Amino acid sequence: MSHKILVLAGDGIGPEIVAEAMKVLAVLRAEGVDIEIEQALVGGAAYDATGTPLPEETLRLARAADAVLLGAVGGPKWESLKIALRPEKGLLGLRSELGLFANLRPALLYPELASASSLKPEVVAGLDLMIVRELTGGIYFGQPRGIRTRNDGQREGFNTLVYSEAEIQRIARVAFDIAMKRGRRVCSVDKANVLECTELWREVVSVVARDYPQVSLTHMYVDNAAMQLVRAPKQFDVIVTTNMFGDILSDEAAMLTGSIGMLPSASLDAAHKGMYEPIHGSAPDIAGKGVANPLGTILSVAMLLRYTLGKPDLALRVERAVQAVLAQGLRTADIFADGCSRVGTAQMGAAVVAALRG
Ligand code: IPM
Ligand code: MG
Repeated sequence: MSHKILVLAGDGIGPEIVAEAMKVLAVLRAEGVDIEIEQALVGGAAYDATGTPLPEETLRLARAADAVLLGAVGGPKWESLKIALRPEKGLLGLRSELGLFANLRPALLYPELASASSLKPEVVAGLDLMIVRELTGGIYFGQPRGIRTRNDGQREGFNTLVYSEAEIQRIARVAFDIAMKRGRRVCSVDKANVLECTELWREVVSVVARDYPQVSLTHMYVDNAAMQLVRAPKQFDVIVTTNMFGDILSDEAAMLTGSIGMLPSASLDAAHKGMYEPIHGSAPDIAGKGVANPLGTILSVAMLLRYTLGKPDLALRVERAVQAVLAQGLRTADIFADGCSRVGTAQMGAAVVAALRG
């Protein structure tokens, strides 16, 4: 059966890093993996061409695809647009229109990069945690929202944090299922001491946990979790949390590994259709210079192979190829260290392709 992959390069460094990931896909295709690739516009690039960050055509192709591979969206050029037209809306629209409620953000420290972390090597050595972030609900999407003028003439901004039991249950199940394949520990992160919405979150996660007696569940307030992540990050196996807390904690967790440029993510629906993207942004400051790190995007291809195509063996091969180039001492600027060879985006991609071909 042929697998359809929609590639959305997006903005900033998006096109450069996606080009390298496509080389990896091309190798697999040449080996007989049945994938069809289409490309479309999203984000600022789509806004410039069509007046909207998520054109109908892109949405149609995304719905028809088995998986979407996305580079990055956004940049200063579009920051003065109203929120509904900003590049980020393209991303948020894809997440919600495709029902991609489960966002998996692994933070894995490659031993070769231990010195790139801002934390002491002994604190991060061997770090391997997975953040499961709820992605289509919570304060990102809750209604009502907006900016309004009060009777006294003052404007006020407002957003709504809301989660239904069903939304909490399904993301909790994803987290427990993943924990079963890992270290069998889930830490649910909330602010149940202040926010009723996450009081319900805590209660529902605890009920779901009864179906997973082999998994140990703990709860942590988000402020403590933020602290624990830098104090003793190896205490975590799987963290499950709300959309906004997950947004924040996943950036923090990413930095533990030394480079946000290394980390992939998967956003899945109930049928394991998914959108895959590096967790870093569009890095407009280095766009077009050929220095961006393509490994986060290439590792996103590995996640795509694992979660949507159901090919864990190929996923592992791609991950090993990445590890091999790191072991060879190749580093893009963001992960450069003394004694290593500094390479650009395309050289890094080519090295992964060579390692993959073996
Ligand atoms: C992320 C990003 C997005 C988010 C932005 C670009 C809308 O920060 O994927 O973490 O907040 O979800
Ligand atoms: Mg974020």
